[in-house]
Amino acid sequence: MRATMNLDDPICLCFRVSRRKLINFVKRERPKVPSQLSECGGAGTGCGWCIPFLKQIHRTISVPDATAELEQLSPEEYARRRAAYVRSGGGTPPAGAEVLPDAESSPGASTSG
Ligand code: FES
Repeated sequence: MRATMNLDDPICLCFRVSRRKLINFVKRERPKVPSQLSECGGAGTGCGWCIPFLKQIHRTISVPDATAELEQLSPEEYARRRAAYVRSGGGTPPAGAEVLPDAESSPGASTSG
């Protein structure tokens, strides 16, 4: 397991938009509000999980001293948190979006059909 998210890890798991793409978008387009990051590959317009992180990226670029929670998260933990968010009814990923990892390892559990 890798320590933390890197630039090529997708931040928007619904639309596979990497952190690098989002950072470059913010540097290039200078969006005034984080919601404008949706113009970057549709980021944030699926289940909505990544929106707080889009805000962090927007803020980190606009305010260079801001510490991003993303620096502390592994890609696995990030995906797990999104799965918990989606399962708790937070939002619905679009068809074909990244699959949700298992909530927890439950040996013997299987799906039929
Ligand atoms: S992870 Fe970005 S909208 Fe679902």
